[in-house]
Amino acid sequence: MSDATMGPRALIGLLGDWRSGGAAYEDLAARIRLLIIDGRIAVGTRLPAERELAARLGLSRTTIAAAYARLRESEHLESLRGSGSVTRLPAAHITPLHPTGADSIDFTKAALPALPWLGESARAAAERLPAYLGDPGYDPIGLPELREAIAARYAARGLPTDPDEILVTIGAQHAISLLSRTLVGRGDRALVESPTYPHAYEALRGAGARLVAVPVGGESGASLRAADTGDGPAIAEAIRHVSPSVAYLLPDFHNPTGRSLTDRDRELVVDAASAQGTVLIADETTAELDIDLPFRTRPLAAHGPAVMIGSVGKTVWGGIRLGWIRADRGLIRRLLAQRTPNDLGTPILEQLLVAELLPRMDDILELRRTQLGERRAHLERALAERFPQWQVPHVHGGLALWVHLGSPVSSQLALAARTHDLLITAGPRFGIDGAFERNLRIPLGYGEDVTERALDALEAAWGSMGAAPLVDADVLSAVV
Ligand SMILES: Cc1ncc(COP(=O)(O)O)c(C=O)c1O
Repeated sequence: MSDATMGPRALIGLLGDWRSGGAAYEDLAARIRLLIIDGRIAVGTRLPAERELAARLGLSRTTIAAAYARLRESEHLESLRGSGSVTRLPAAHITPLHPTGADSIDFTKAALPALPWLGESARAAAERLPAYLGDPGYDPIGLPELREAIAARYAARGLPTDPDEILVTIGAQHAISLLSRTLVGRGDRALVESPTYPHAYEALRGAGARLVAVPVGGESGASLRAADTGDGPAIAEAIRHVSPSVAYLLPDFHNPTGRSLTDRDRELVVDAASAQGTVLIADETTAELDIDLPFRTRPLAAHGPAVMIGSVGKTVWGGIRLGWIRADRGLIRRLLAQRTPNDLGTPILEQLLVAELLPRMDDILELRRTQLGERRAHLERALAERFPQWQVPHVHGGLALWVHLGSPVSSQLALAARTHDLLITAGPRFGIDGAFERNLRIPLGYGEDVTERALDALEAAWGSMGAAPLVDADVLSAVV
């Protein structure tokens, strides 16, 4: 549980346009509930006192008290003597897989189903397990054969790598938080793209970083050619301006926008980081999910110093908790020292499985390319039919479409979708400052049936908002 206190200004910044035509206390409670559910307000945060919030919002204290009472009823808030009103999640929310019931669809994750031959490969891996059973089994760095296979995969992508430069982790998320804890000191600046993958900025913030955001994705990778630059100049400029300790980047099929940096972009970024002494962290979790990128790129570290994160979570399956870090030997040693107090190593069985699969990565990616290409075609067609007013980018890979809704209603839509059994993450979750109310991330990885059902729910939710007066978020922020 965090022990953060949120002032009225910060809360109002996150609320955006919270009125959706109902009673003010109901609408306010609903919006705060969404912010808690999708993580924009951390569990354990103390909300502003009723009187203060009422004054800032120009509402009566009774309205705020009624909204907080609603949140207490739904178990999203508890009043602790001497600590004010502190956010929490109801026990029912913590059920692992199907939070709102068997029929609900979870579009909060952008991922693909498991490889069809995963079971068969897992059996082959299990047959090799007896050879390891005489050892203690704790493995903080990774099995030699797996580190070799990972290094070989980098070499095939144009980045010669020694197995000693690889540390195997429990997924990419583990890699991000391990790197954050190792590289970031309290108060250090960390540059992140905005929007970006939210659990990365949470990990950096958790390690004590002060986040600095650089806006990206204005132009999607779709419109770029190999010779162009996209977000590279903006990222490089921000690095020069801010001199952050670290910069966390998604160079390929960026989550959520889908854009990729060209090789020229990468050179600019690496040059700026080298000049400022910034450690670049390139998260390649989605890097190999190419459908038809019109230009070729090389990994960031092929252009200059950069720490790379990889994972099989998106190519093989999210249930295989295995990722890795590619870094120089000195940093690998520091990471090992930092790791042990937190976890004692990566499971051997999972490592054997991935060692089986990595040599077949080209086949795996071919299958994913076909799946994602079909799903992209279906989703683009369906969105154009159902929501002609939305702008839908044409992405060349990755796992999501970052749709532009035309008005700042993403939180409202995500909230309404819940009443139609669709869980979907509102756009602002991907920013660090409440922006992106005009965007919604729609995952690409689900099959046609599920996607159609999700779009039915989204259409119903969108329809239910039709009568609501829409106050532009920019106007709102100007008056509060
Ligand atoms: C950009 C990015 N990095 C890391 C992760 C986490 O990956 P893993 O499942 O390997 O921990 C995700 C998962 O959604 C992601 O999108």
